[in-house]
Parts: sequence; structure tokens; C-alpha cells
Amino acid sequence: MKKDIDWENLGFGYIQTEKRYVSNFKDGAWDEGCITEDANIVMSECAGVLQYAQTIFEGMKAYTTKDGRIVTFRPDLNAQRMLDSADRLEMPRFPADRFVDAVTQVVRANSAYVPPYGSGASLYIRPYMFGINPVIGVKPADEYQFRVFTTPVGPYFKGGVKPLTICVSDFDRAAPRGTGHIKAGLNYAMSLHAIVTAHANGFDENMYLDSATRTKVEETGGANFLFVTKDGKVVTPKSDTILPSITRRSLMHVAEHYLGLEVEEREVRFDEVKDFAECGLCGTAAVISPVGKIVDHGKEICMPSGMEKMGPVTQKLYDTLTGIQMGLLEAPKGWIHVIE
Ligand code: PLP
Ligand code: COI
Repeated sequence: MKKDIDWENLGFGYIQTEKRYVSNFKDGAWDEGCITEDANIVMSECAGVLQYAQTIFEGMKAYTTKDGRIVTFRPDLNAQRMLDSADRLEMPRFPADRFVDAVTQVVRANSAYVPPYGSGASLYIRPYMFGINPVIGVKPADEYQFRVFTTPVGPYFKGGVKPLTICVSDFDRAAPRGTGHIKAGLNYAMSLHAIVTAHANGFDENMYLDSATRTKVEETGGANFLFVTKDGKVVTPKSDTILPSITRRSLMHVAEHYLGLEVEEREVRFDEVKDFAECGLCGTAAVISPVGKIVDHGKEICMPSGMEKMGPVTQKLYDTLTGIQMGLLEAPKGWIHVIE
């Protein structure tokens, strides 16, 4: 029996579900892990995560397909990215097969919270890991907790698929040779002032430029960019300091192999943005959210696709990707992980 939730009107917020997964790392090894109903965590006042922000996470979704199965999308890539994040923050690796198994267990245990097909909502899955023992000198923790919880969500941006207005941020998101390419909580902590500032100025999101030269497009606080050129080519910024979005990598494959479009992953100069026909933000939470306007210190770039609807190529990418995720279109091998 599904929970009595107004699925169509969900926003992107936290709703506590019944079960979560926990595994502890101690004395150099992970325990076997289990499902628990306890949503609270008790830890030392001096825990590594509280003092030095030693925490990493992932974000993924479970969907109900047209034929009623519950599936997740490419969880092996989230597992791999979490290994990369763990390596960079000197944390132990949570094995990829155990990651996928933990996600599967938690979604299955909360299947009553997986929104029905066609509701536009999904079950957001949040795997994360943090240093839990007391750490006062600056060094990695010795003990860690890996957890996975779920929460039903609707669209990340209010207004669903209405084109967004974003601004070029005066703040930087990631330093060269820093942590921009991993999913560390610290990247989001330092983006909070920037997003609050953007919202206060009436913008939906920030466009971050590369911090070394401030001439190239990086990403937003929670999504990669896709652009479409006037001749229909799909372009995405290449940079060592952006998060390698699984949605973006999948969309580039979809563009090339399902839609027969030319694709390019390359550096994108900010001064080229005015020449693109369409712009979208892509990520697990954002799916593809169209951008209608980009404002650079009062100078407006209005995308030809306008402020009313997605551009035609963005729409095709959106329909194809969500069609694959919802089981309407055949998926490339290994993309769909069936939970039940
Ligand atoms: N970029 C940032 C900074 C993010 O936080 C996310 C969200 O996970 C993405 C991009 C999109 O990545 P993915 O498509 O793997 O969810
Ligand atoms: C996701 O898309 O899963 C993210 O983690 C982005 C976050 C800003 C919600």
C-alpha cells in the first residue's frame, strides 16, 4: 500500500520515511550494516564531521516505471563517484557492490514511499558517509558511518519546468586542484552564501565561472550545464573542477545515440554563451531544468528558447532521458537497476 501523500504537489524537501541503512567503520573495517528505523544519529561533540566537515554524499532517485517496477538509474556510477569522493577526503571506501546493495535494501524497505508512475515525483535517495569519532588536531577520523535514507520529492525548482533565470556569481565554487570534482559537503557549505545572495537578488541559481580566470563556464551549485548551439549541437563544459554529473553523461549519450545529434564536451567561454540557442541545468535533482535568462551584472542574455517553455532540443533530451528512466524507451545495457 502506498502512503497517503499528495504526490503531484511535492516539492524538493525532506519527508522522513520509515527505514534507513547504517554501516559503521571501526578498527579498519566496515561492519555488516543493517536497516534501522532510527533516523537520529548520536555522536561526540568533537566528531570529525562536526569540526572539519569530513562528509561526502551522493544523490540518486528511484522511479516507478510504466509497468509498475521500482528502478534506480545507474547506481554503479554513484557508487564509483563515492569512492572517488572518499579517496579525496581520506575516508575509507565503502565497496561499490555494498553501496548498490544498501541502496536496494533501503528503497525496498520504503517502497510505500516510491511515488506512483505518472505523478512527476520520485523517491530521492541520499547515501552519505562522515567521520564520527572525536578529532581535534586536523586529521582524518578513524571511525566513520555510512548511511542511506530516502525521501519522496517533486521538482527541485519551484514552478517545475518553467525556464529559470540565473546570475553569474561573484563567488567561486571550486579552486583549481581543489574538491570541485567530488561530492563533498564542504562544496555545498561554501555555496550557501552565494545561493542566498542569488535568491535575494531574484535569481533561481548561480552560474559559477572557473575561479582561475573567470572566463569559462563551470556549473551551478547543484547541476551541470548543457547548451545547444544554433545548429543543434549539444555542448557541455569540460573542467576538472566540476562534478562529473551522471545525468549529464547520460544525456550526452542520449543526444548522440538516441537523437543522432553532434555532441561536444569542451571548455565553454562565457563570452560564447550569448550565441547558444538553448541552455539547461542537468542533475539528479534538476533532471533538465531549462534556463531562459542569464544575467551578468545587469547585462542580460536571453536564450532564444524564451521564458515560457523548454527549447526543442532540451525537450527531446528530457523526454528521452525520462522515457528511459520510466521504462517507456529501451535503456542502454546496465542503466536500469530493478529493485522490485
Ligand atoms: N553538479 C553538482 C554540483 C551537483 O551537486 C550535482 C548533483 O548531484 C550535479 C552536478 C549533478 O550530478 P548527477 O547528475 O550525478 O546527479
Ligand atoms: C542531486 O542532484 O542529487 C544533488 O545532490 C544536488 C543537490 C543540490 C540537491
